[in-house]
Amino acid sequence: MRLDKLLADMQAGTRSEVKQYIRQGKVTVDGSRVSPKQQVDPGTQTICFFGKEIHYQKYVYYMLYKPQNCVTARQDAGHKTVMDYIVDKRKDLSPVGRLDLDTEGLLLITNDGMLSHNLLSPTKHVEKVYEAKIDGWVTKADIKAFRQGLDIGDKTLTKPAELTVLTEGDISRVRVVITEGRYHQIKRMFAAVGKQVIYLKRTAMGSLKLDETLLPGEYRELTKEERNLL
Ligand code: URA
Repeated sequence: MRLDKLLADMQAGTRSEVKQYIRQGKVTVDGSRVSPKQQVDPGTQTICFFGKEIHYQKYVYYMLYKPQNCVTARQDAGHKTVMDYIVDKRKDLSPVGRLDLDTEGLLLITNDGMLSHNLLSPTKHVEKVYEAKIDGWVTKADIKAFRQGLDIGDKTLTKPAELTVLTEGDISRVRVVITEGRYHQIKRMFAAVGKQVIYLKRTAMGSLKLDETLLPGEYRELTKEERNLL
């Protein structure tokens, strides 16, 4: 790929800034000064930026604690989007799946299309874990209905879901584990048993767990271990 694109992708500066650095000789490829248009192979060539060797990452993986009131999309006319929180402005980055405007929690953002596909594919049955507050008492009958599959107005029933009551009360705190990702799925499942979700947070997706040290709106790169597990 072009050297200036590679450096801009790596957040070394804007495209015009990195062009300037290259022209000023701040960047070398295998020890030599080159032009911004130079095609480079980061797999075999040594690229130094201000004297320090840089290692190009083709794929990047960010864990965002999505806050409420932001849209899971690249662009939106009215609201902030999840991409507004990410400093990395690569055009190929996108969120893996969607969380509603008022849902918060774990959202993976990556340019690894294959991983994204595998996590979302209904045939892969990747578990998504949600914590929710429900208006009203959640009953044993609800737990059974979630396990058996619910008619939420789609062609097929929902796949078996594990519903656990964490705190009983007029407002119940629950955990739900689903292996699908239908539109408004958790809200529609509770609506099917006559209840309303008043708060929803995703805490895990497959092996990836929301880092509880992150605050809403904060994000970090996945660790090597998290990437390997995914
Ligand atoms: N289910 C919902 O209803 N909303 C979400 O954002 C995610 C799952």
